[in-house]
Amino acid sequence: AIERTLSIIKPDATKRNLTGKINAKFEDAGLRIIAQKRIQLTKEQAGAFYAVHKERPFFDELTTFMASEPVVVQVLEGESAIAKNREVMGATNPADAAPGTVRAEFAESVGENSVHGSDAPETAAVEIAFFFSSLELVG
Ligand code: CMP
Repeated sequence: AIERTLSIIKPDATKRNLTGKINAKFEDAGLRIIAQKRIQLTKEQAGAFYAVHKERPFFDELTTFMASEPVVVQVLEGESAIAKNREVMGATNPADAAPGTVRAEFAESVGENSVHGSDAPETAAVEIAFFFSSLELVG
């Protein structure tokens, strides 16, 4: 089925001018960028987005990092977009990421891992609505 997923190009990647190279990987895989904006998150906003991780030991590190530099938030659309995006991203820990994936090529560590992608249809809907109104999704 045609799906939509929420993608974030994280501070470690925007800082190194990797937005275009990462977008090229998404587009080459057949994912269409139907919404995109560059924003500066506050630590509070990062905490609200990652609320499911609130009890994790890395929560403070994660939210401080996500607010440290601008991020690019985007909606990707395509056939099986959620799984396809996860394939293009590679494993969360770059040490485990397959060759050619975004994280294998660009990520610096499990925390500074260049991209986020929704993990299921329900979370994709919630995460897309966190950043975008329906009028901003131009498929
Ligand atoms: P993401 O897909 O954005 O969802 C939660 C994030 O938490 C994850 O990617 C990682 O960047 C981050 N994360 C997971 N494990 C750790 C860890 N051990 N230390 C720091 N950050 C982590």
